[in-house]
Amino acid sequence: MNLKIPSLRADTVTQANDLAATLQGYTSSIPTTDEALRAFAADVDRGLRSRPKRLDCKYLYDQRGSELFEAICDLPEYYLTRTETQILTQVAEEIAAETGPLTLVELGAGTSRKSQLLLDAYCGVDPQPDYVAVDVSSSALDKGARTICENLPTVRFHPLCTSYQDAFSLLSKIGKTMVVFLGSTIGNFSARELDDFFQQLAVNLVPGDYFLLGVDLHKDVRTLEAAYNDSAGVTQLFTRNLFSRINRELGASVDVNQVEHVAHYNEAAFQIEIYVKFLQAQEVFIEPLGTRYKVDAGEQISTEISRKFTLDGLTSKLAAYGFTTQRVFSDPDDLFALLLLKRPESRLHLE
Ligand code: AVI
Repeated sequence: MNLKIPSLRADTVTQANDLAATLQGYTSSIPTTDEALRAFAADVDRGLRSRPKRLDCKYLYDQRGSELFEAICDLPEYYLTRTETQILTQVAEEIAAETGPLTLVELGAGTSRKSQLLLDAYCGVDPQPDYVAVDVSSSALDKGARTICENLPTVRFHPLCTSYQDAFSLLSKIGKTMVVFLGSTIGNFSARELDDFFQQLAVNLVPGDYFLLGVDLHKDVRTLEAAYNDSAGVTQLFTRNLFSRINRELGASVDVNQVEHVAHYNEAAFQIEIYVKFLQAQEVFIEPLGTRYKVDAGEQISTEISRKFTLDGLTSKLAAYGFTTQRVFSDPDDLFALLLLKRPESRLHLE
């Protein structure tokens, strides 16, 4: 009897040392300013024509929006960032010991604030860990690069300025990998986007690869609603900024003092729902298209959902995509969880 271990990767396997070369072939797909504006106008047009009206949450993150989101992360009511950081601080070494050396690929890395905790731990199992930080913001990547070079000089930092959807195809071309997706960003995906995301990961990660996922857990309504209705009003500014951005970039003249942030937990759907509520009737003019949209007094435009998860529901969904749950790390109050998932090794073939 001959035991045959299937080859885990195609001939295109790239050794860690070749990673930089592989990444060089990755041209950024960041659109030009003109293309980005056209896409923004088209998406706003689609959203304001749909019933009920809605806008895509990705447009919340212009420079001002990203600054406001950073401020949200430090708010006392917004337990998500703080709790995830606490969990990571405690378990980063365990994660590194469990997976052994590999390339970390962080999707939506931003300034790599939280991943430094992981990288520090990986320095204990690998003299020169490779870290690919994927983000659409080059300024965030620059900031992350500077801090990591300064604090963890042995880490090989590979910034990749592109959308994480575009980074999926990279995953099968590099050595043993762990995709890192923190902050419960999956909560902002619609059910369909979430399925697409898991599907893409399942297709592109290979047996033996890991996926580290940070998720916000379902909990009492009071805690959840407080996190999205902070007393300092920063979340209100964050939501309103979407219309300030539409004014700035698309020539609209919405009176943003007459719009209000509304956030509540839909318990049946397990999601926070966020809206911009118009306090008086207004017209939104989208200059590049020359179109006008009427919004009634009291009308609410959906800007974001933030889904909350149960561990059973999420791990069985991930199992359907071929991920096994290796470890679940949580805080004592079960506010937030970090899931260490794996694409299982293929079974040995008996011949
Ligand atoms: C980025 N994302 C995980 C945040 C959340 O909690 O859903 C966005 C956010 N919106 C308002 N506050 C925070």
